[in-house]
Amino acid sequence: MSKAPIVNPAVAIPRRVFLQGSAVMVGSALLARPILAAKQLCHPTQSDIIGPYYRFGAPFRTQLASLGEPGDRLVLTGTVFSSDCAMPLPGALIEVWQANAAGLYDTNKPGNFTEARTFNLRGMLYTNEKGQYEIETIVPGRYPIPPNLPGLEKYAGMTRPAHIHMRVMESLHVPVTTQLYFKGDPFIADDPWAGLKPSLVIDLKQDGKVRRGVFDVVLARGF
Ligand SMILES: [Fe+2]
Repeated sequence: MSKAPIVNPAVAIPRRVFLQGSAVMVGSALLARPILAAKQLCHPTQSDIIGPYYRFGAPFRTQLASLGEPGDRLVLTGTVFSSDCAMPLPGALIEVWQANAAGLYDTNKPGNFTEARTFNLRGMLYTNEKGQYEIETIVPGRYPIPPNLPGLEKYAGMTRPAHIHMRVMESLHVPVTTQLYFKGDPFIADDPWAGLKPSLVIDLKQDGKVRRGVFDVVLARGF
């Protein structure tokens, strides 16, 4: 089975087009338009709602799911880049949290930041010297939006597509809170958030007993 990385088009396309655009710039100032177009393709990662199940203080770890956790094993990798979509950011802090395969979080109480003492399918980690991260987890399940969430009452009961939450921060950049989704999920189109953010949808490839996905993150510069 191929281990070719799945590349987030929000990052990969700009890098390729950047190179093409630079070559054009050397040739003629009259061809500046392709460069402008290329820069427009390089955007900071889109933000998404933090959702009702974020909890502060998850332990540092890269293996979110124990080996006994039910579900399809997933290895998620990626690189955190600066706003040029090219310079990797070592030491970026990533918070990640998700539902289990049945669509349940380790707390079913929205907004419960402090009551539960244990954390499951949650973690924090830093990117390495190349700005890269790797997380071992399971593919999350879908779940309905709970009732009585302030501002979201009209969406109560709507099934959200499977997703993984992330918050990514680095000292000289603007933090982003986002979610990633999985290509082919039929609930993406009607989701009030995923349906509007195709750049957050990644593909998964089966690799033996695990699925692999790549989600690169681009942070806006803070100055
Ligand atoms: Fe969620």
